[in-house]
Amino acid sequence: MRTTFVSLFIAALGLARAQELTDAQITTIKNGLDSAQPPLQSWEIGTYAEALLELDTPSWSTLTPGVPFATYTTAAPPGSLDAVLAIARSVVQQWTDANNVTAANAHTISAPLLTNAAAGDPPSTGFAVVLANLTGQGARDGLLYGAAADSQVRWLLTNDSRTGPDGALSHRPDQLQLWDDFVYMVPPFLAHYGVATRNASMLREAYNQIRQYRALLRDAETGLWRHMALGYSCDEGYWATGMGWVTGGIVRVLALIASSHYSAELAAEQADLVQWAHELQSALADHLSDEHLFHNYVDDASTFLDAASSALFAAFAYRLDVLLRARTLPLPGSLVTPPAVLAAAERVRKELFTAPSATTGSGLAHFTDDMTLQPVTNGHSYPYELLLPPNATNVAANGGIAMSYEAQGFVLNLQAAYRDWRAVGNFAKSGRGMW
Ligand SMILES: *[C@@H]1O[C@H](CO)[C@@H](O)[C@H](O)[C@H]1NC(C)=O
Ligand SMILES: *[C@@H]1O[C@H](CO)[C@@H](O)[C@H](O)[C@H]1NC(C)=O
Ligand SMILES: *[C@@H]1O[C@H](CO)[C@@H](O)[C@H](O)[C@H]1NC(C)=O
Ligand SMILES: *[C@@H]1O[C@H](CO)[C@@H](O)[C@H](O)[C@H]1NC(C)=O
Ligand SMILES: *[C@@H]1O[C@H](CO)[C@@H](O)[C@H](O)[C@H]1NC(C)=O
Repeated sequence: MRTTFVSLFIAALGLARAQELTDAQITTIKNGLDSAQPPLQSWEIGTYAEALLELDTPSWSTLTPGVPFATYTTAAPPGSLDAVLAIARSVVQQWTDANNVTAANAHTISAPLLTNAAAGDPPSTGFAVVLANLTGQGARDGLLYGAAADSQVRWLLTNDSRTGPDGALSHRPDQLQLWDDFVYMVPPFLAHYGVATRNASMLREAYNQIRQYRALLRDAETGLWRHMALGYSCDEGYWATGMGWVTGGIVRVLALIASSHYSAELAAEQADLVQWAHELQSALADHLSDEHLFHNYVDDASTFLDAASSALFAAFAYRLDVLLRARTLPLPGSLVTPPAVLAAAERVRKELFTAPSATTGSGLAHFTDDMTLQPVTNGHSYPYELLLPPNATNVAANGGIAMSYEAQGFVLNLQAAYRDWRAVGNFAKSGRGMW
């Protein structure tokens, strides 16, 4: 039943395309990320790997309704997964080199997967490492994928500071500080790890981290989340990309729990996650500008418009709607996406993927000649807009980058999510089965 359901769904993905980017445009975006100089940093690598999984191998993504986590441990990985597995290989090779890992010491190491200025960013690559481990990649290339994931979990649970015994883990290694970015980087990794190692308590920890972050970052009146809490140099503004990260992290954890054999046991947690995603998505939808994009700080119209957070928001609004409409969550079938959230996602998606321009080589207002998303926040310096075109002056002022790598990843998330959302609609129209 499930296999049929998934394969029919995947078949529906191929139906007529409209209002999406073309294959050539998607290839240009991937090539830009693959050849990026300077190379991607840890959270950008994790973001890109997740986007590639959703886009190229939906049959191995738990965001695809009805894909049981266990299926991909028993099947040979398809070629479409090669790019994700290559990312995992590169991450584990770097972890091996940085920590002088040998078969003898691997199981004692407590270290992040990659070196980075943040405690919470390297774990974003961990889901790909767990995935590679489960495909048996270590037997093919000699790297210790399982031990690398263990080492990252050990570091988070024993070396990272936290707000209390069961409290929020710090996003920073140098001080106890929470950044809402963390919700996309760490809980999905802990959840993936928990399912892979059959540890329900680790899944509860993934949920607990989101709960703790929500308790400290959410503004009860508006439903918006602050970018940071605690510590010095603390940005308490309502940063758009940060809230986009939160919605994405919540939906990914939800989908992982739902696809695991702990789904029934953790039904109450899934109900909370849906509610938390909807409350934030609704609050964000209220702040979508007349230009169909968020401002960099969503409640401050004097800040620049940001297509990056807008794409991330829309991608995971579609994603959660797909999961709810497929009814594969252990939740009442009457639970639906707030209409204002879907309307906002549609406005963003139409703006980004269809607003025309006679002056860009892409023909689209929000993409430059080489498919760089615009206007966007500088992915390496959140208060500032990325300066384009990528000429020498602008690249230097951007701190060396010609595009926002995370924003380019969000475009891939949005393309994949919208494709899957349309497939659900086509499926419903065909009157088949469970939709
Ligand atoms: C790894 O080995 C090199 C060379 O022996 C040494 O300089 C370095 O400190 C070691 N690193 C760790 C993390 O042990
Ligand atoms: C890695 O794979 C092995 C063998 O399938 C499994 O026993 C182990 O739990 C896995 N570890 C992780 C972190 O996924
Ligand atoms: C991690 O914590 C353990 C236990 O407190 C300690 O022995 C170890 O040195 C710490 N490792 C790092 C990398 O800080
Ligand atoms: C299961 O996860 C918890 C964290 O929630 C961890 O403390 C525990 O060691 C894990 N158990 C095993 C057997 O790995
Ligand atoms: C780069 O582009 C900006 C904005 O269009 C322009 O002001 C600047 O002169 C350009 N610099 C170079 C070196 O072309």
